Order: sequence, then C-alpha cells, then structure tokens
Amino acid sequence: MSGRIYAAITGMGHYTPARVMTNEDMAQLVDTSDEWISSRTGIRQRRIAAPGEKTSDMGIAAARMAMANAGVTGEDIDAIYFATCSGDMLFPATACFVQQAIGARRAYGFDLSSACAGFLMALEVATGAIESGRIRTALVIGAEKLSAITDWTDRSTCVLFGDGAGAAILRASDRPGVLSTLLGVDGSHADILSLPASGTLHPASERTLREHLQYVHMSGGETFKIAVNTMVNAAREAVARAGLTFDDIQCMIPHQANMRIVEAVAKRLGPGLMERVYLNLDRYGNTSAASIPLAFSEAVSLGKVKSGDKVLMVAFGGGLSWGGAVVEWL
Ligand code: UT7
Repeated sequence: MSGRIYAAITGMGHYTPARVMTNEDMAQLVDTSDEWISSRTGIRQRRIAAPGEKTSDMGIAAARMAMANAGVTGEDIDAIYFATCSGDMLFPATACFVQQAIGARRAYGFDLSSACAGFLMALEVATGAIESGRIRTALVIGAEKLSAITDWTDRSTCVLFGDGAGAAILRASDRPGVLSTLLGVDGSHADILSLPASGTLHPASERTLREHLQYVHMSGGETFKIAVNTMVNAAREAVARAGLTFDDIQCMIPHQANMRIVEAVAKRLGPGLMERVYLNLDRYGNTSAASIPLAFSEAVSLGKVKSGDKVLMVAFGGGLSWGGAVVEWL
C-alpha cells in the first residue's frame, strides 16, 4: 500500500420541497404552455419551497440523509462546504446554520458561490482537503431556493428553475473514490447569466426593484450554445484525467438545465452514452448547485449506481463556470 490518502463519497442525500408546480400552473402565471416548456426544455414540473422554508432547511435535510447513509454523526464532520447562489443571507454563511443543526461541533464551514457548477467546485475543495491530510470527513451540500430569486414575470427564465438540495459525505479512504476533477471559469461571458443586485454593485434601491435586478437574468440562446461545447470538453477532460474512456462510465450525471443540452452533449461524447445518463429535470427543473447531488442521490437510492460503478458528473453555469468529475462508487 502506498500510504497515500484518497477521498471517496461514502453517502449521498437529497431533499425536495413538497409543493409541486406543474407547467400548467406556470401557464396561469405567464404567457406560456406545457407544450412550449416541455418541448424546449424537457421540464414538466418543479418543486417550490414553502414561504418559510429556507435554503439551509433543505440543505440540512439532504445532509441528514447523506450522514445516515454514510453512517457518520455531526461529531465526525471536519468541514462543511455549502454550494449555493441563493443562501439564506450573504452572511453568516449558510454552512453555519447547517453546522448548528447537525451538531458538527468541530467543523468549520463556508458557502461557495459558483452557480450551477458550485457542487463540483465544492467537491474539488473537499477532495483536496482530504487528500492533503488536513481533514478526514467533509460534508458537501448543493442547495438552492431559486424561487426566491426568480423573476416570476419573466417567462424566459421563471419556467426553468426549481428548489431542492443534495448532499454528499466524503471521507478519507485507502482506495481512490474521487478519480478526477476539473474546473474552469471564463469571466468574459459573465454578463449572459447573472443576478445583478445580489451584492454591493447595485445596493437595493427603487431602481433595482423597478428593473428587477434582484432576480436571475439570462440570455438563454447564448448560454445554450456555449453550454454544449463547454460540457463536452469538460466531460472528455474529466474522463481522460481519470485514465478512463467513456466505455468505462456506467452513469453520467449532467447538470439538469435543459434536455436538449444534455442530448446534444451525450450525442457528441459517443454512441450509447445517452442511455447511461440519469435525468430528473422533468420533475425538478434546473436547481443550479443542487442539480447534480440531487440527481446523484436519487440515482443511488434507485439502485442506478452500484458498487464499483464509475460516475461522470459535468456542470455548466453562471460565471461562466464549469466542472467535470469522475468518481467510483465504492
Ligand atoms: O443552468 C445554467 C445554464 N443555463 C442553461 O443552460 C440554459 C440554456 N438555455 C436554454 O435552455 C434555452 O435557451 C431556453 C430554454 C432558455 C430557451 O429556449 P430557446 O429555444 O433558446 O428559445 P428562445 O430564447 O430562442 O426563444 C424562442 C421564442 C421567443 O419568441 P420569438 O422571439 O421567437 O417570437 C421567446 O419569446 O420563445 C419565446 N419564449 C417563450 N414562449 C413560451 C421564451 N420563453 C417562453 C416561454 N413560453 N416560457
């Protein structure tokens, strides 16, 4: 044995709010139809958090399930990495509310803002901290209450998003679990997908309210085009860095933004890959940082990911930012 420390995912969890909002419900709010939404995106419904239900509440529920599945308690956790672009507040970090709720007495934690690529960014941070020997157990969460930052008068965005959470426990292991990670950003396209009035650039004012700057803004068409190329490249690089080929991948979990994007990506990556893709965007829409861990956890719960399987994750979103990762489910 080399004595090298590896990182491995040892438990997954997820949570979605009870309220289902269908495309028909959406058509009562804005000028749209089930036909348009499902044919352009593949989304049929999404979950919407209750008014008092916080991003931290959803993250905590997902974390508890991941901890139970991994057989760890709050005392075991050294670090909490919370990926979100819709945290409870700018500070304290949403990770602090999780730390308190799960009794992770020894843990440090922070929030990580990288929109839809956030979970893979957090996975990379956790993996690095574990492989360096600094920590042994990490809780990685992706959770979003996008309904609170959605412009419900803008049909080009409001039909896309939903609320939810996913979580993973990563632990030090003598066998490699995280086989590769790859991350990137390109700030030259920062303007095509953003939430302009979420920071100090545009403090709350009559103007920010009038111009709806406190909500997600997106140039859908431009984002779509860049998304396909970027996800294809990230997936290829992540698989190559793991020393594998696409034939070795049993399950692919892409960021769940649009069925047409996923199909275009899978088609370019190779024949037969689409049959190995796990999708739940028809039921949850785009849940940004929650999207990948929510799908991964569901896939594990449904027995779609089995021991020894290699799982490819690939994400793309605001920043622009992207990520790819291959893990072996030990
Ligand atoms: O998660 C981060 C990454 N995000 C993404 O990857 C999202 C990427 N983009 C997309 O998924 C797609 O671009 C959308 C689903 C957002 C839009 O699909 P599209 O095929 O690119 O449509 P479009 O924006 O080109 O709009 C086509 C038409 C427009 O009407 P005109 O100008 O052709 O008359 C829109 O006004 O569809 C209209 N439209 C709608 N019609 C009914 C836009 N939204 C809606 C709507 N219902 N909800």
